[in-house]
Amino acid sequence: MRRIDYDKEQYQDYARGRALTERQLQVWISAFGARLPARRPLTGLDVGSGTGRFTPALAEAFGPVTGVDPSVRMREVAQDRSSHPGVRYVAGAAEDMPVPSGSADYALMFLSWHHVQDKPRAARELARVLKPGGRLLLRANFRDHHPRPWWLEHFTRGFEVDASLYQPLHEVIAMFTADGWRVADFGTVTQPSDGTRGEVLERLRLRTLSFFAQISPEEVEAGFRRLEEFVAEDPGAPAPEFTDSLLTLERP
Ligand SMILES: C[S@@+](CC[C@H](N)C(=O)[O-])C[C@H]1O[C@@H](n2cnc3c(N)ncnc32)[C@H](O)[C@@H]1O
Repeated sequence: MRRIDYDKEQYQDYARGRALTERQLQVWISAFGARLPARRPLTGLDVGSGTGRFTPALAEAFGPVTGVDPSVRMREVAQDRSSHPGVRYVAGAAEDMPVPSGSADYALMFLSWHHVQDKPRAARELARVLKPGGRLLLRANFRDHHPRPWWLEHFTRGFEVDASLYQPLHEVIAMFTADGWRVADFGTVTQPSDGTRGEVLERLRLRTLSFFAQISPEEVEAGFRRLEEFVAEDPGAPAPEFTDSLLTLERP
């Protein structure tokens, strides 16, 4: 995978390019709630919090949250977008979090795991910062359980390239269970439609997906030409809902 430097790319457009509808956000928050203990408040970590797509909603639903992200720019956007009293953003990475040991009830990693360079170290660090029995909500894609977004087929080698960004599920599970973690749940969450095909195309043009950095500019251009032709046939058609994987791990 070509590494993405979020301080140099994506940060200006990420919030717009990856915007969630209120309904989508609520679906995610209830999926997380179903995998966390019922008591409130819970102390949370949003690891790889980016522009804070989820952080304020996590604080609202469960209790105080620390967003941890290595990118200064992404943290700045997050801070500018919301000043929820239950949220703070700090510099750090999954491998090295400036939070005390045993201080969090859960950690969410939403599409940040594939960016982590030293995964075994991150697993140990997550175990350090979570309380015993604390949960890691790993919203990741897996090479062998990879979703097929409707627009990806218009890009040559799209599915293969996109899938190659992610580890196979068994590899992730083997790494955590070797350290004593337990798989509490593996399932899918159906995310409601992103809007119309035309609206999705407009957001995709912002290229706030790591996928676009993995193929050549010519492939990107040719793919967008094919996608535009397809969307032009019926731009108001709703984009299909989407099924995403969510792995929940419990710390020993
Ligand atoms: C695709 S964005 C996801 C952001 C947010 N979770 C969301 O869903 O909108 C990936 C984020 O992971 C961050 N990141 C990169 N390397 C990381 C690491 N080692 N640990 C934690 N986060 C990392 C990036 O800076 C970026 O903000």
